[in-house]
Amino acid sequence: METIRGRTSHQLDFTGLAERLVGYNHIRLDLGTGDGRFVCRMAEQHQDRFFIGIDACRENLRANSQRKLPNALFIIASAQSLPKELNGLISHVIINFPWGSLLESLLSSEDSLVRQLLSVTRPFARMDIHLNAEALVTAGWTLESGADQIERIVNANGWRTKSRSCMDAQLLRSFATTWAKRLAFGRDPRAIQLSVQKE
Ligand SMILES: C[S@@+](CC[C@H](N)C(=O)[O-])C[C@H]1O[C@@H](n2cnc3c(N)ncnc32)[C@H](O)[C@@H]1O
Repeated sequence: METIRGRTSHQLDFTGLAERLVGYNHIRLDLGTGDGRFVCRMAEQHQDRFFIGIDACRENLRANSQRKLPNALFIIASAQSLPKELNGLISHVIINFPWGSLLESLLSSEDSLVRQLLSVTRPFARMDIHLNAEALVTAGWTLESGADQIERIVNANGWRTKSRSCMDAQLLRSFATTWAKRLAFGRDPRAIQLSVQKE
């Protein structure tokens, strides 16, 4: 699989990944990580956990992927075709404010993305999905109807809802991703957090 550090790409195989993960029991995947700020912040705060950020776009990752954090790794991949090296490793998936094909894949019951996520996760893995109103409206839904659709698909594909709650501008401001900050000061600072667990 292709990993990135600044402007440089490296191929990392099963063995190389296993070496990086020695000593870590909790491995968190931030899917659609954007500029990787969330991964860096979490890796600094929780040094006993390993954080993997994945995004299809490498440009935004240049700066944060350069940081020398032993418990963080950035991978260039599409959510619809996750590296097989990750199979069975992930204890917690986080999807923060998806848009584009990542959001479309969460909304589509055909060849469900959340079903594919079963392959990379461990038994009883957790998943937190943060959905924002503007992205769902752009995709042809309302915040509530889009969240309902995703919750339905998630629950039909091997996961169970643990909680669902609303996020307002104040909560978005305190959330450690670049996009959350942008939304908090934008026109429609509404979002929904959906927390689920693998059955
Ligand atoms: C609105 S941004 C959110 C970024 C970050 N999670 C945050 O909160 O700051 C959505 C991200 O999803 C990524 N994305 C969209 N479709 C994707 C796909 N199919 N596979 C991987 N990443 C994707 C985009 O490149 C973008 O970085």
